[in-house]
Amino acid sequence: MSVLVTGGAGYIGSHTCVELLEAGYDIIVIDHFQQSNIQSLNHVKQLTNKEFKIYHIDLINKDHLETVFLENSIDAVIHFASLKSVGESVHFPLKYYQNNIVGTLNLIALMQQYHVKKLVFSSSATVYGNTQEVPIKENAVLQTINPYGRTKLIIEEMLRDIYTSDNSWSITILRYFNPIGAHESGLIGEHTDGIPNNLMPYITQVAIGKRKELRIFGSDYPTKDGTGIRDYLHVMDLANGHVKSLNKMKDSKGLFTYNLGTGKGYSVLEIIQVFEKATGVNIPYRIVERRHGDSAVCYADPSKALKDLEWAAKRDIFDMCVDAWRWEKNLNASKV
Ligand code: UFG
Repeated sequence: MSVLVTGGAGYIGSHTCVELLEAGYDIIVIDHFQQSNIQSLNHVKQLTNKEFKIYHIDLINKDHLETVFLENSIDAVIHFASLKSVGESVHFPLKYYQNNIVGTLNLIALMQQYHVKKLVFSSSATVYGNTQEVPIKENAVLQTINPYGRTKLIIEEMLRDIYTSDNSWSITILRYFNPIGAHESGLIGEHTDGIPNNLMPYITQVAIGKRKELRIFGSDYPTKDGTGIRDYLHVMDLANGHVKSLNKMKDSKGLFTYNLGTGKGYSVLEIIQVFEKATGVNIPYRIVERRHGDSAVCYADPSKALKDLEWAAKRDIFDMCVDAWRWEKNLNASKV
């Protein structure tokens, strides 16, 4: 089975390429390499000892995108390509609507035209907004609070409409919780430009000495230690969730939505403690004001993915910290 992976050079995309190739899928990768680099794909080839085609293409350019459909026989698409910074989306909403929505429209239109009707879409727990009820089930109320989240929700709605209009499609929407960590080899991981927005890349940059201290955004949340609680998930487990989804879609039609998370919540202070234990490196921190838009607690009920896809996260928070740290050290040594 031949799978087109959009955004395949990115953080989650590159790890998923490894899992797909190891599971015996053939892949074709598209990326515009604005937030990623070719090196990650070279490392995917090195890790798997497999070759695949790479197209340097922006989904916004429908003519360029069409060449991929003309030149290849594609059975399914995994669509990762997306801008993903919440903060940037608030300042540049049009950029987000243009890239994420228009890019997806072009992709889906071509899939329809070339009769490629199997799609896995990379969504996010962001579509639940600041929900108060945890663990979060897939049927929770959908509400988004920033343009990035709205692009994910709009695409989900588009996909539901497409399936309603033509039920020969097979669509799987995966809502990721907080992916962290890196491939165990330390060869692929998350490339962060500038100051990281997310917790784990910030911690590893403090650990390596690039940043003085971690700022903890609020210690007055109604949680056990006052800091925010999230469902951190190893990126390789997340990658495996895509393979499990495709396996199921081989001979079934329908539109399915799954949470991919561990179902366990860890506070910011707990993450710091585990990281220090896993790596032996001290993380200095300072408590600052809450970050606008953050919720107190967010973790998944992943039982639907277990039941339907036979997927469950295998790696624990200790593994996630060890692998994130190995990646940061390699990155710093300029090996990757
Ligand atoms: N945090 C800090 N200091 C930092 C960074 C984060 O204290 O420097 C805290 C946050 O306040 C939060 C926790 O660490 O309590 C996790 O924050 P992240 O930024 O790592 O992750 P978020 O849960 O805020 O957001 C992530 C993705 C979003 C996605 C969302 C959905 O970044 O794209 O999960 O679950 F929409």
